[in-house]
Amino acid sequence: MIYVTGDTHGSIDIRKLLENQVTDQMTEEDYLIICGDFGLIWNYKKEIRKERKWLEWLNKRPWTTLFCDGNHECFPRLYSYPESEWHGGKVHVIRDKVLHLMRGEIFEIEGNSIFVMGGASSHDRGPLKGDTEIVQGKSWWPEEIPSDEEMENGLKNLKAHNNQVDYIITHCLPTTYQDIVKRGEFPADKATDYLETISQTVAYKHWYSGHYHVNIDVIDKISVVFSRIIKIGDTIMESETMLGIPKFRKGDAVLFRHEGEEMMGTIKEVWPWGPFFKHDEPYYGVTPFDDEPKKPFQVKETDIIEKSLII
Ligand SMILES: [Fe+2]
Ligand SMILES: [Fe+2]
Repeated sequence: MIYVTGDTHGSIDIRKLLENQVTDQMTEEDYLIICGDFGLIWNYKKEIRKERKWLEWLNKRPWTTLFCDGNHECFPRLYSYPESEWHGGKVHVIRDKVLHLMRGEIFEIEGNSIFVMGGASSHDRGPLKGDTEIVQGKSWWPEEIPSDEEMENGLKNLKAHNNQVDYIITHCLPTTYQDIVKRGEFPADKATDYLETISQTVAYKHWYSGHYHVNIDVIDKISVVFSRIIKIGDTIMESETMLGIPKFRKGDAVLFRHEGEEMMGTIKEVWPWGPFFKHDEPYYGVTPFDDEPKKPFQVKETDIIEKSLII
């Protein structure tokens, strides 16, 4: 089985893989794809102890870890790992069971063709912040945006597959969908515009991205993942509820069920492990749009029908 999750950011967000209902059941047969901002090849000088600890930990898991790059990677170091052919595409071998899926490659895994294109613009440093000279080569690298050769490589490989794949894994989204998720807050760039072309010319079953730090189905065949770990082919809504890893966040507008009625509301509180004496699934405190009760309704995750992009 192939699973997909979002940014791990080195040791910061990798903890979602610990004592998790999904990873606990994963075996030697399984694959986990991280949609960029892997972050365990980050120090600009060398592999530091913390990176080594987590890379070794990943390497000892039953499953094989695969990742596309995001914008938070030390690219000169990432690109210095040995290159190898793996399942029809090129990878950098970080550890035996930790592989970097290179940009523009197509992999055949369990009968699925998967196109991968990492990279994204940093919005917290670099040119968008005007601090390029201070951070370049230390915590920001221009290689975060795919080069012309990497983009050409992707188009060439897709053409050889008749512009048809089962799944697409990227860090950022095509411009149109990034605009929906970020409401114009993240400007379009070379990477999102390239993916826009791909989204219009390539047939695919489902597209997964990271980067935006939310778990959301943007449309029926495009999902952004962050904390969730979902089976490839599933949407966020179809994926199982997970204790400790809620699907929704504070501030999300949602359609939910309460005492037999469907209504819209805003999430005011999140109990990832359930409130007192209810540790079966994540719960939320939801305030309905058209009413302002003193206390938000206590709603379990399975009673949240969907997240709305309209706030
Ligand atoms: Fe990112
Ligand atoms: Fe990130």
